Amino acid sequence: MSPSHFLRLPWRSALLAALTGLLLWGLAPRAAHAEYGDVVINNYSDAAGMRPVVFPHWFHRVRFRCKVCHADLGFQFKAGGNQINMLKIIDGQFCGACHNGELAWSAENCNLCHSGKPGTATQVHESTLQKLTAAAPAMLAASAPKAAAPAPAAPAPAKK
Ligand code: HEC
Ligand code: HEC
Ligand code: HEC
Repeated sequence: MSPSHFLRLPWRSALLAALTGLLLWGLAPRAAHAEYGDVVINNYSDAAGMRPVVFPHWFHRVRFRCKVCHADLGFQFKAGGNQINMLKIIDGQFCGACHNGELAWSAENCNLCHSGKPGTATQVHESTLQKLTAAAPAMLAASAPKAAAPAPAAPAPAKK
C-alpha cells in the first residue's frame, strides 16, 4: 500500500470497526488468519497451490450495502457458494468489480486475499469458540463432552 493510498483510508470507520471488533472479540488472542465473521473461501485455492482466500466480511459490510454485493454483483449468501476464479476476477466479476486498482487495490496483490492457513476449509467463522477450535485441530478431535474444561492458559478474570 503506497503512503498516499494509505492516507485516503476512511479513518473514522476504520477506527469504529476496530473498536467494535475489540468489544466483540474481547481480549481473545487473534487467530493467525481468519477472524470472527470472516469467510474462508477454498473451493479451488488449495488444489491450485494457493492459500485459501480469507474474505473479511465485516470490513466490507461497514463500507458497502449488502445489496451492492449480494444483488448487484450476484454473490450468493453462502460461504463457498460462488464459483469464483481469477479469470472472472480479472474480468471484473465478483471481487474484481472493486479490486481493480481503482476502487480498491488490484488483483496483483495475491497475498492480501490468499492469506488463509493452508488446508483451512471453506467456512464462516461464527464464534470465538470456532476460532479457537479452528486454530487448534487437536481440540476438534477431542470435541466430546469435556469441551467445558477451562482453557489452561486463561486465568479466570478477577470478579468485580
Ligand atoms: C481480491 C482478492 C484476490 C486477489 C488479489 C487474488 N485472488 Fe486468487 N482468488 C480469489 C478468490 C475469491 C478465489 C476463489 C477461491 C476458492 O474458491 O478457492 C481465487 C482463486 C484463485 C485460484 C484458483 C482458481 C483459479 O482461478 O485457478 C488461483 C490459482 C488464484 N486465485 C491465484 C491467484 C494469484 C496468483 C493472484 C495474484 C496474481 C491472486 N489469485 C490474487 C481472490 C483473489
Ligand atoms: C463487498 C461485498 C459484500 C458485502 C457488502 C456484503 N457481503 Fe455478504 N458475502 C460476501 C461474500 C464474498 C460472501 C462469501 C461468498 C462465498 O464464499 O462465495 C458473503 C457471504 C454472506 C453470507 C453467507 C455467510 C454467512 O455469513 O453466513 C451472508 C448471510 C451474508 N453474506 C450477508 C450479508 C449481509 C446481511 C450484508 C449487509 C449487511 C452483506 N452480506 C454484505 C460479500 C459481501
Ligand atoms: C464492493 C466492492 C468490493 C468487493 C466486491 C470486494 N472488495 Fe475487498 N475491499 C474493498 C475496499 C474498498 C477495500 C479497502 C481497500 C483499501 O483499504 O485500500 C477492500 C479491502 C479488502 C481486503 C483488505 C482488508 C483489510 O483489513 O485491509 C481484503 C482481504 C479484501 N478486500 C478481499 C476481498 C475479496 C476476497 C473479495 C471477493 C470475495 C472482495 N474483497 C470483494 C472493496 C471490495
